[in-house]
Amino acid sequence: MKSAHSCRISGTGMYVPEKVVTNEDLTHFIDTSDEWIKEKTGICERRVASDTELPSDFCVYAAREALKNANLSADNIDLIIVALSGPDVSSPATAAIVQKKLGATHAAVFDIRNGCQGFMTALITASKFIGDGTYKNILVIGTSFYGTFLEAAQWRDRTQAVFFGDGSGAVVLSPSNQIAGLLSCDMGNDKDAAHILHFPFGGVASLRETTYADKFLGNTMDGRFVFDFAVRTVPNTIRTSVEKAGLTLADIDWVLLHQANSNIINAIMEELKLPISKTYTNINRYGNTSEASLPIVLHEALREGKIRSDDIVVLCGFGAGMGWGTAVFKWD
Ligand code: UT7
Repeated sequence: MKSAHSCRISGTGMYVPEKVVTNEDLTHFIDTSDEWIKEKTGICERRVASDTELPSDFCVYAAREALKNANLSADNIDLIIVALSGPDVSSPATAAIVQKKLGATHAAVFDIRNGCQGFMTALITASKFIGDGTYKNILVIGTSFYGTFLEAAQWRDRTQAVFFGDGSGAVVLSPSNQIAGLLSCDMGNDKDAAHILHFPFGGVASLRETTYADKFLGNTMDGRFVFDFAVRTVPNTIRTSVEKAGLTLADIDWVLLHQANSNIINAIMEELKLPISKTYTNINRYGNTSEASLPIVLHEALREGKIRSDDIVVLCGFGAGMGWGTAVFKWD
């Protein structure tokens, strides 16, 4: 069901740092192998920020490209929402630092922290501000610095070290006509799964720990639960969203999923009985870039001319919480 004003993605951008960490590099720190990582996750390499780069820098690089592709300047932006788990500092919001660096004089700002589905939470939130006419152009940015966190801990926990990388993706959301744009959305969270992907570092509870290593060792991920959760919940939220849009699965041209793991992506497509050719993945090159993975995948799919006018595109994120966020767009 459409809001009074619908919205469309009018521009996308991305940034990944230059430094590449291969699976082979990880074998110098943990007991793993290139073969195991590729088979279990589909990841070949990931990117990690340089010592001088901050999350707000990534956001700005991705945002500038998104603004350029939307034919807008920073002055045209009414709101900046940044989804991330590793901010520049605890306060102010990274979005406020991004505003300053971009020179987005007229923008309101806030951050969203909601794990890997944070970008979808931010996108759906932004759509409501356009829907009720409050704002016209909104920058929605997802940024990951998990690679940097892992590197700082010398990649010590192999259950997590093989997955995550750094990167940033941005979209500009703008009003659309009533034919194209956002058709429906769905969000949710499993009340019993907050402990499954648990990263205490930076939170008040972690202040009692003494060293970085102690703090980092508090990070836990129940990989098997994440796998089963994603394969169980993602097809459901996609079916719900598609139904809300008055469509069927047969109408979908593209399903763009959070790049958590290629085996998860394959299993979701299989569960939906959709051909793998209807999704796009780049996890082999960037690993899991948490909040950044969906806008990066969307940007690359557009850049490669995969998504065409009138295509039905489903975006779905899932992660720590454990929760999910899904949106169905008719591309214009
Ligand atoms: O945004 C969310 C990101 N997280 C995810 O996407 C996690 C989703 N979960 C998964 O992808 C899988 O559950 C994993 C890849 C984490 C694990 O796969 P699995 O098939 O559930 O493997 P397992 O935990 O049962 O472990 C299989 C073997 C074990 O050895 P033994 O007991 O069979 O000898 C592990 O000790 O693999 C071993 N293992 C590793 N070997 C090399 C576990 N981690 C590693 C590793 N490198 N990093």
